[in-house]
Amino acid sequence: MSMDVTETQPLGKAIKRKEDPRFIRGQGRYLDDIVLPHMLYMALVRSPYAHARIKSIRTEAAYTVKGVKAVLTGEDLAAMNLAWMPTLAGDQQMVLATGKVLFQYQEVAAVVAETREAAEDGVSRVEVEYEPLTPVIDPYFALTAEAPILREDRAQKSNHIFHWEVGDKEGTDAALAASPVVVKEQIRMPRVHPAPLEPCGCIADYQKSTGKLTWYVTSQAPHAHRTVLAMVSGLPEHMIHVVSPDIGGGFGNKVPVYPGYVCAVVMSIKLGQPIKWIETRTENLATTNFARDYHMTAEIGATEDGHVTALKVTTLADHGAFDAAADPSKFPAGLFSIVTGSYRFPVAFAEVDGVYTNKAPGGVAYRCSFRVTEASFLIERVMNTLAYRLNLDPVELRRRNFIASEEFPYQSPLGWTYDSGNYAKTLDTALAMVDYPKLRREQQKRREKGELVGIGISTFTEIVGAGPSHTFDILGIKMFDSCEIRIHPTGKVIARLGARHQGQGHETTFAQLIAQELGLSAADVLIEEGDTDTAPYGLGTYASRSTPTAGGAAALAARRVRKKAQQIAAHLLEVSQEDVQWDGTRFFAKGLSSRSVTMADVALAAYTNLPEGMEPGLEATYYYDPPNLTFPNGAYIAVVSIDRGTGQVHVERFVAVDDCGTVINPMVVEGQIHGGLTEGFGIAFMQEIAFDSDGNNLAPNFMDYLVPTAVETPHWETGRTVTPSPHHPIGAKGVGESPNVGSPAAFVNAVIDALAPYGVTNLEIPLFPWKIWDVLKQHGLTR
Ligand code: CDP
Repeated sequence: MSMDVTETQPLGKAIKRKEDPRFIRGQGRYLDDIVLPHMLYMALVRSPYAHARIKSIRTEAAYTVKGVKAVLTGEDLAAMNLAWMPTLAGDQQMVLATGKVLFQYQEVAAVVAETREAAEDGVSRVEVEYEPLTPVIDPYFALTAEAPILREDRAQKSNHIFHWEVGDKEGTDAALAASPVVVKEQIRMPRVHPAPLEPCGCIADYQKSTGKLTWYVTSQAPHAHRTVLAMVSGLPEHMIHVVSPDIGGGFGNKVPVYPGYVCAVVMSIKLGQPIKWIETRTENLATTNFARDYHMTAEIGATEDGHVTALKVTTLADHGAFDAAADPSKFPAGLFSIVTGSYRFPVAFAEVDGVYTNKAPGGVAYRCSFRVTEASFLIERVMNTLAYRLNLDPVELRRRNFIASEEFPYQSPLGWTYDSGNYAKTLDTALAMVDYPKLRREQQKRREKGELVGIGISTFTEIVGAGPSHTFDILGIKMFDSCEIRIHPTGKVIARLGARHQGQGHETTFAQLIAQELGLSAADVLIEEGDTDTAPYGLGTYASRSTPTAGGAAALAARRVRKKAQQIAAHLLEVSQEDVQWDGTRFFAKGLSSRSVTMADVALAAYTNLPEGMEPGLEATYYYDPPNLTFPNGAYIAVVSIDRGTGQVHVERFVAVDDCGTVINPMVVEGQIHGGLTEGFGIAFMQEIAFDSDGNNLAPNFMDYLVPTAVETPHWETGRTVTPSPHHPIGAKGVGESPNVGSPAAFVNAVIDALAPYGVTNLEIPLFPWKIWDVLKQHGLTR
């Protein structure tokens, strides 16, 4: 049941989202709603080839289009030393191509005109002569001696980008050699795209008279973008004002800086007019950061009675033409080292090699904390293989290997200190929701009737809240987060955060959190994010980090305010500070509960009636550097049946039990779970950014890259356990990404369970009906 926004003590209550009235009335203010006086529009010329040498670019004809104002090429940018820009991964990326193009749809020139249509017409008149070169599509081929070297700008003459490893290689090899049982599986997580409904874009508005650039941009990390822009452009940082307006979904896609952004800024400075650039759907799917594309091999050693002894993981990561992953600096493979999952592996080793191919750049954390989805998918899939090999129920195998609740804080063999969890309880809750023994009996009966029915389990552990400054930075900037709280004289509050929500409900949940700490209602607290001129510096919203980092900052800033409020309360109550107590909604004199003042009374006094010598006002800022990450977990169970006539998989039930510690708003959390499960469903069954052998992108639109609609989406059943994070100020862990991380393996494990009696142990996602149909045909199961 949802609660009224005016209730006090709002933490943990299902308060309706404060932002929804404007969204459902169509009154959100998204980038394309912003129209500035004298604004011009920009469109980009893009390469039809995946790999080609540029022989010439002729721009004259574009100027003959009515309304075209300017054309920009890579050579123009090179003259300004801006032809290349740094990526967040420490690589460099072409802004506009010079010399060669390295992926289909790569940015080659920019055309600015009075209307969007004229800009597009101008684009069609730019003549580019290409000499096609052999494209490199297969990442394994890319590493061979025969493969052409793609990146001529690098001193290193190979397509290899990085090697990263963690753990004990010799110890793992020895343990595997000594293990009575070893299973080995190759698991590919194909290239997918975050595909936010609103594509990326910006308006660059440079005022020549003041020297100030206002940059409206679809940004998940406005402060980080301001700093990057200052570094790239040479503009002083205080003269760059980044405004991130309402955002129609980000999912990691709106963390990097894209070439179109840089071109729009350059054009605005050059022309002295605002420049708007917004991607088309195809530009978004084909050029902005993709996700996954991990080719993984895992070996698990175990005893005959199903206790794991070792894990070894080898991975090839296809990053496309430029390494534009948006990982913390020290983590080229993100937080992939969570790959030991929920299980007590005595020893483990993981390695990842990054490679260049002729595909769009990226490797972004699509609704996951930097490669956690890949890690989780791998371990949950291969644990399943082990269960079949041992002829053990996958539930029983997991139980035997779970890290026990009394073992936390748990030191994983790949270097993490898991903060808390109760994995057995989370799994038991999910099993009770489906009545697991009954479900297995029913499956048996249906199998006897010739039905293909499967039950898939995924018991994942996430790692979110990057992160503690001793380990986490992006381009050297430590990954803390921040909150500034100001109480006005009448007891109403504005709170500004360095985070930037894209639909996650921060305007409600952070208002609840702060209101709880200050004894107010969520209605009294206005949350503002996304404006670098007003918000304190923060690293932004992605990787489920907002609650663990900015949420911590909000609680601690509120406590700082309360500390001062207590001094003012003592003055109002005419007692000493030590004799003032706080009961969650008011201050009262110890032993005399009838004498009390509220936060609103204190706020008024902060501006009208202060103790002698006290600084006026009631506000505080807190920069929170978390001591550790948080480790949410979940137990997901999928029940599927396969249509033997079509190969279509029907998800009959899906139960998701999540543990994200203290819950701020159960309705918002449930919404996050529903959304992430829907995306996980799409990844498991419908989506792949695939390429043909010439490097043509085969899914650059929503006809070929399928996004689940309400029609296909299964019914989700959710449950919860609560194991508070011991180090977070309110015990909360992040949750936004758990369902995307945990669900793909549950779906696939269910499909494999349906086909396991016929010897199927591994299938590559996405599980398109035609792919399943082929498997059915091979096993004589079609009808
Ligand atoms: O960083 P991002 O906002 O994407 O992810 P998050 O920190 O997991 O939060 C997603 C939404 O769920 C936010 O509105 C959170 O405040 C809310 N949430 C919650 O109510 N309780 C939790 N324990 C975790 C998140």
